[in-house]
Amino acid sequence: MTSFEYSAGAFVYRMEKGTVLFLLLKKPNGAYDLPKGHIEKGETAEVAAKREIREESGLGVEFVPGFVATTKYFFRREEKMIVKQVKYFISEVADGGVTISHEHIGYEWQPHAQARKKLKFKNIVKILDRVAAYIDKYSSISDINRRYAAIPKRSGWELSTRFVPGEGSLDGQVMIIGQAPGAEEDKLGRPFVGRSGKLLDSVLRKTGMKRHDMYITNVVQFFPPGNRMPSQAEVKECLPFLMEQVKVIEPAGVILLGNLAAASLLGVEGSEKNHGSVVNSDGKVYMVTIHPSAVVRFKSKYDIMLSDFKKFKAVIDKGSRKRARH
Ligand code: URA
Repeated sequence: MTSFEYSAGAFVYRMEKGTVLFLLLKKPNGAYDLPKGHIEKGETAEVAAKREIREESGLGVEFVPGFVATTKYFFRREEKMIVKQVKYFISEVADGGVTISHEHIGYEWQPHAQARKKLKFKNIVKILDRVAAYIDKYSSISDINRRYAAIPKRSGWELSTRFVPGEGSLDGQVMIIGQAPGAEEDKLGRPFVGRSGKLLDSVLRKTGMKRHDMYITNVVQFFPPGNRMPSQAEVKECLPFLMEQVKVIEPAGVILLGNLAAASLLGVEGSEKNHGSVVNSDGKVYMVTIHPSAVVRFKSKYDIMLSDFKKFKAVIDKGSRKRARH
């Protein structure tokens, strides 16, 4: 007999003098664990993880966006084979004040190298390494975004003052870059959530790509009034921040939506003329395609965009199989 169990938890960390310290809970048998536990009926993994962290450490947490890692392991309980799946999130807390529950006999805040030694399961150590790299990227992106979001304070700024940062996974393989947020994005502070975003979601779904696995952003990350094209001066001011973001995320592939993205990152003039062209540059695969707003206006262009995305996915999948073999 096999039964399935589902748990959720998190790598909870805090910063101390520039060092990331992870929270480890000590079990009565002396082993170290992360705050985690069963997903109860009706709970999502996120809700369960937050509840478990509160119960086991007394900490109220939010999760670092864009990260979830899943592990699966097997063990025997009496005559039964149990398959257990655990989803892990990441959360940063401000201070180290922990109140443990009766399930544990102590807790420690340990840097990455020490935490690796104390968490003895290989699959957890592998996720810990990924988490440490993710936290690094998260803090770099947060720093870039802080500086970028401060630009509107300068004089002569004509774009919206609301910064619309990129969103999604910082360790995914793919980055999607559009032109600039629209009115809906400006309102919600999130990229590609209006009509163009819905269209993009539909193409992603049909291609078998998941939005939460990639990082989606724009060349200019502020709404241009009246939805106009950003000026050359505005692009010049904003582009260096995007280039910094690309450098941190280091995707294997980048999809460039529309003329501005194609021109800004590749110097390619005309996304319609050059749609579907795949270029290798600085260790990444770039593909130019038409902007979803053009497809919103001319539905007949949907299939062009879809076939470009399918082509891009095939190239990326082939590359990731190759990377996995090496
Ligand atoms: N168009 C874009 O180029 N970006 C968005 O975020 C929304 C619409």
